[in-house]
Amino acid sequence: LSSSMTVDPAFRVGDVDPRLYGSFVEHMGRCVYTGIYEPGHPRADADGFRQDTAELVRELGAPLVRYPGGNFVSGYRWEDGIGPPGERPTRLDLAWRSLETNQVGIGEFMTWARGVGVEPMMAVNLGTRGLDAARSLVEYCNLPGGTHWSDLRGGDPYGIKLWCLGNEMDGPWQIGHKTAHEYARLALETARAMRQVDPSIELVACGSSGRQMPTFGSWEATVLAETYEAVDYVSMHGYYEQHGDDRDSFLACATDMDAFIDEVVATADHVRAVGRHRKRLHIAFDEWNVWYLSRFAGETALEIRQTPRLIEDVYSVTDAVVVGNLLISLLRHADRVKIGCQAQLVNVIGTIMTEPGGAAWRQASFHPYALTTRYGRGTVLRPAITAPTYETARHGEVPLLDAVAVHTDPGVVLFAVNRSQTEPMSLEVDLRALPGLTTATHTALADDDPDAVNTAQQPDRVTPRELAEPKVDGGRLQVTLPALSWNMIRLS
Ligand code: AHR
Repeated sequence: LSSSMTVDPAFRVGDVDPRLYGSFVEHMGRCVYTGIYEPGHPRADADGFRQDTAELVRELGAPLVRYPGGNFVSGYRWEDGIGPPGERPTRLDLAWRSLETNQVGIGEFMTWARGVGVEPMMAVNLGTRGLDAARSLVEYCNLPGGTHWSDLRGGDPYGIKLWCLGNEMDGPWQIGHKTAHEYARLALETARAMRQVDPSIELVACGSSGRQMPTFGSWEATVLAETYEAVDYVSMHGYYEQHGDDRDSFLACATDMDAFIDEVVATADHVRAVGRHRKRLHIAFDEWNVWYLSRFAGETALEIRQTPRLIEDVYSVTDAVVVGNLLISLLRHADRVKIGCQAQLVNVIGTIMTEPGGAAWRQASFHPYALTTRYGRGTVLRPAITAPTYETARHGEVPLLDAVAVHTDPGVVLFAVNRSQTEPMSLEVDLRALPGLTTATHTALADDDPDAVNTAQQPDRVTPRELAEPKVDGGRLQVTLPALSWNMIRLS
């Protein structure tokens, strides 16, 4: 297989907002309890936070973490998580039919977030609650003091900038699910009240829970028609999995993410035109990942448990390549997608896995995510690509090569995926518009066994490898991408 592409700084998409590389911590399964927090664990600090997990979170480099849900937030009383831990109530969380002890609340989460150096993105409950609880929470978090809620906090304000107006309110599974009209009115009035408490906050309106939702498109149009001026972002959620043995389609699912983003952008811009609005809305793709939802389908009538093992997918090399490709899709839309949250950070469809009382380790998907987060900073350039195509059952004819370039000035980083399951691909890159680039390194995630995974016993079975340095000659780079691989080529 052979392909080529041209990279030119004139073909500028937009600057990468570092918040594109965010993550997500939900009170679900073992994400919080025994994931980030486990008092009594040999590596727990004085506050009960696992430092083995914290070290991996720092290595991952996600600058932003969404919290506390997810479906969980739609039944959450944030006041249950403040005050002396011994006096906090244990509640039944209806979203995941779990016992929530409230030993981690907003204050503990902020201590953890500061410790690992991430910015919080806070969701408010628009399922069972509404405007009053939301504006009290902003007061609790962001006001310096002198009011009921801010005095209860004590200490410095948290200064939380980014707020989600509910979670997946279009989904019939959501506690307090609403029609688009019902949600739009509630979101608008809640947004106004929250901003009256703190005018400096940024707000995210709920978009669709997925492109497959029957209300997709009309939901965004209705919600944004009402809330356009009151919000800064509309959310998107997208989860992908391999169906049966159709790996070819799975490897191309970033084309679905591309189309989904384009459709939400088109809808937001339509509302902008109709409403004669001046500002342009941006996108918070605040839940995305590979998730084998089909494996979870049988778990609908969950038994009530505390800290159950929920959706602990173990990711393979193939899944990791897809995760890398989904990041390429997000980067390609850097002009409109400013926020992204890979769901979730630990254990629950997690990038990091832990055992209670035991080890913490990196899933295979950790690697493309950590490397893109670290090196994909700068200005995204749209490459002109010529590549062979293949036919897929779900996405039609798609290119075997997907790639994006990030201009880091003076260098360039290329992220590329070879979707062929069997054949390596030679790639020639024309870099003549970027004179002075003479050396390159090539890091790849690929394996003789595309189903290989990392486990507690073999935590480093899947890791990226440094391949032979590609040749750069006369402004042309020559590189070979292994079969079924994610690649990062750094030029300087
Ligand atoms: O991330 C797991 C769940 O997926 C979240 O709680 C929900 O928002 C989504 O459906």
